[in-house]
Amino acid sequence: MATTLQKRQIGVGGLKISARARQYVMNALDSNRLSIGKYVHTFEAEFARLHQRRFGIMANSGTSALQVALAAMKEKHGWQDGDEVIVPAITFIATSNIVLYNHMQPVFVDVDPLTYNIDPEKVEAAITPRTRAILPVHLFGLPSDMEPILEIAVKHNLAVLEDSCETMFVRYKGRPVGSFGEAACFSTYVAHILVTGVGGLALCDDPELAVICRSLIAHGRDSIYLDIDSDDNLTDNDLRDVIERRFSFVRLGHSFRPTEMEAALGLAQLEEYESILQARQRNARRLTEGLQDLAEHLQLPTIPPDREHAFMMYPITVKKPGLRNELVAFLENHGIETRFAFPLLDQPVYKKLFHLDVRQFPAAERISKNAFYIGCHQELTDEDIGYVIEVFHDFFRNGRYV
Ligand SMILES: Cc1ncc(COP(=O)(O)O)c(C=O)c1O
Repeated sequence: MATTLQKRQIGVGGLKISARARQYVMNALDSNRLSIGKYVHTFEAEFARLHQRRFGIMANSGTSALQVALAAMKEKHGWQDGDEVIVPAITFIATSNIVLYNHMQPVFVDVDPLTYNIDPEKVEAAITPRTRAILPVHLFGLPSDMEPILEIAVKHNLAVLEDSCETMFVRYKGRPVGSFGEAACFSTYVAHILVTGVGGLALCDDPELAVICRSLIAHGRDSIYLDIDSDDNLTDNDLRDVIERRFSFVRLGHSFRPTEMEAALGLAQLEEYESILQARQRNARRLTEGLQDLAEHLQLPTIPPDREHAFMMYPITVKKPGLRNELVAFLENHGIETRFAFPLLDQPVYKKLFHLDVRQFPAAERISKNAFYIGCHQELTDEDIGYVIEVFHDFFRNGRYV
């Protein structure tokens, strides 16, 4: 190891369970109500309100939320198996997997090399008579360029589903992520901005879509009985109606329900989301300041002036081809955890499923080969960030890059 610095552990995610979170989880346990109840309903409503949406539906993961949201849109609009959904060529694999689970076809579009998000200028060329929806991903915490995406969607009569699994609370042109598409989905998996262990949410404004999503996470139940409170306070004919229909399943659904414990953790963190967000943004700002003098080697995150960045992580592209893996190994040797920035098209499973020529996606190809991310989460201290900056300098100072 070249550096003489005292080694630190810098994870891509970090979590401290607060006294409030412990209390909420204990309340959930003490209530003897572990399935969807008070905490799930409150978390859903508060999360939806903060993203300017009427309805929030919590599921057991971001993937589940995305899967049911797309299924609900497919049902509502009468889309057919084999219809197409446009997705970015760089994203976490769940984005395109859920299109496949819905028996639809993902059509990949290259991304912007600086923001890592879908390049709106390349979307129109991918539209065919079978295209039904665009699925932009707000990657790493940065909102996609939604205005041109929405314009294209209107022009071609396409729906929009936002994959906001990595991004919460921040605004694009004054409006929060998750408020643009017909539906938008979020993840609260580990190392995300809010962490509930497993968990996710779908948001929308259309009551019909919300009911279908709720039904789909609960085995496709009849909307008259979507949770165990649905028969409370009913009498006579209303009660008879519920009794008749509560074990009726009207569509092919899933067992994607969350528990009260996850929602209790989520609600406790939601109540302090501003400080979580500010700490991430401050850490990212410090990293950018501290690494700026290495800009000839490293492409640091870009934040276009019309939007905010939630910094679920801190993405970096190494400019010299072939150098990333050496830098990443050096960082990991110094306790700094890294992840490659979402190579997608050349995943073994996708090589079997699609016959894609990755050279048609030059930005995605460059990112898959040269980009990675590190953590900038709220549990990192100024000393941790200073250490990360020093280790990067050590690597380049020692001439490892030539
Ligand atoms: C862009 C994106 N989409 C979807 C998901 C899936 O979320 P989950 O892991 O909660 O299923 C993730 C998760 O990490 C993600 O980063």
